[in-house]
Amino acid sequence: MRDFRISPSLLAADFARLGEEVSAVVAAGADWIHFDVMDNHYVPNLTFGAMVCQALKPYAGNALMDVHLMVEPVDDLIQQFSTAGADVITFHPEASRHIDRSLSLIQAAGKQAGLVLNPATPAYVLENVMDKLDLVLLMSVNPGFGGQSFIPNTLNKIKQVRAMLDEYEHQSGRRILLEVDGGVKVDNIGEIAAAGADIFVAGSAIFGQPDYAKVIAQMRQELTK
Ligand code: DX5
Ligand code: ZN
Repeated sequence: MRDFRISPSLLAADFARLGEEVSAVVAAGADWIHFDVMDNHYVPNLTFGAMVCQALKPYAGNALMDVHLMVEPVDDLIQQFSTAGADVITFHPEASRHIDRSLSLIQAAGKQAGLVLNPATPAYVLENVMDKLDLVLLMSVNPGFGGQSFIPNTLNKIKQVRAMLDEYEHQSGRRILLEVDGGVKVDNIGEIAAAGADIFVAGSAIFGQPDYAKVIAQMRQELTK
């Protein structure tokens, strides 16, 4: 069985109690903490920056800080989040003039680097930067808001990208992880995993329930089927 990871998105947490929310979701079994950075420019919404990431890092324990940059441009914020405790940094290729350089900045800082593909972004943008990718994040909604419905065509995209990553692993011996973000719930996580995902971002599905441990356990249960 693959090594699955669950990354609750703080976008759906109680912003007045973020530290407690991070502790609670880690105690409930989260592997990663998904931190959605929105700039009201690349996406039509505004969230939090590197200072908030730094403040929350001590609450995350052994969970990795999974920073999803929905900002343009990206390079300055890559530097800021690298020193603010990010473990994983992903960005959208449309938001960087020089994708290879931005990925190199993340890796030079010793962080896991990834590209995020929107629902309509073609997978070929990955082809010439495979050596610089630790993961690929596939958006299963259009970025900017939590609580949207999973776009069904994403299942085809997951299979397509998984095949590319498997081919690369076959040649290089190096596995690139596949993360899926948007509309992930207990009732669809199984088919998302079957299509080839390793890491599951879930915001409203986890923080919208009173018992985080119960939802995360239900998700893991689906992943063992
Ligand atoms: C959307 C964000 C997602 C969002 C997911 O732009 O990247 O991480 O929080 O929220 P849910 O799980 O509610 O769809
Ligand atoms: Zn996200």
